[in-house]
Amino acid sequence: MGQHAKQYSDMGAKAILAIDISEKMLDYAKKHNCADNIVYQRMAMEDISAIGERFDIVTSSLAFDYIEDFGALMQNTYLLMEDDAKLVFSMSHPMVTAWDGSCDRYTRTDSGVRLYANVVNYCVEGLRKVNWVVDGYEYYHRTLATLINAMIKAGFIIEECQESHISDDMRKRYPDLFGGTIHRPEFIFFRCGKR
Ligand SMILES: C[S@@+](CC[C@H](N)C(=O)[O-])C[C@H]1O[C@@H](n2cnc3c(N)ncnc32)[C@H](O)[C@@H]1O
Repeated sequence: MGQHAKQYSDMGAKAILAIDISEKMLDYAKKHNCADNIVYQRMAMEDISAIGERFDIVTSSLAFDYIEDFGALMQNTYLLMEDDAKLVFSMSHPMVTAWDGSCDRYTRTDSGVRLYANVVNYCVEGLRKVNWVVDGYEYYHRTLATLINAMIKAGFIIEECQESHISDDMRKRYPDLFGGTIHRPEFIFFRCGKR
């Protein structure tokens, strides 16, 4: 909600274009993370090819879960980037987006301790509609190979991939929130350059 835009601003970026499809999110960002060099604009990421500019960095935090055509997004993103630009993004880990609501996320002991994560229908890609936080929450699941191959096909060189990890200390302090992270990472991160 604008934190990253503000961080890039604070680090000395000349100009930042920050897009989101939600007016509410943009209002929050404008209120809490504004700066002279940030322009917040309502736009769907499906429409980024209409942006007539090129960028040194394209970054996204946890938004690519909601794009139906990840391959097209990668291709359109590639075209927005200067030759030595970087694409840095995070998304929910494919082991997490595989979850389709047909079973609990974890198998637990009678006392509720998470024994292991339930990965179901990993090989079935596409729209997931689940009851989580709100009823009918929607996102798209793709396998790791689909994600990687979309980046490669668009022309990207994957320079680094990381998976989120939580310290044992944090798991002990917040077992409800982070207890499951011992079994699988929640998020995946990529840094890509242009070929
Ligand atoms: C989990 S939030 C992440 C928000 C923010 N990037 C952050 O890290 O705090 C996902 C965001 O993706 C936005 N979003 C969903 N579908 C989108 C689309 N098709 N185009 C642009 N933004 C979209 C939502 O409005 C929401 O703000």
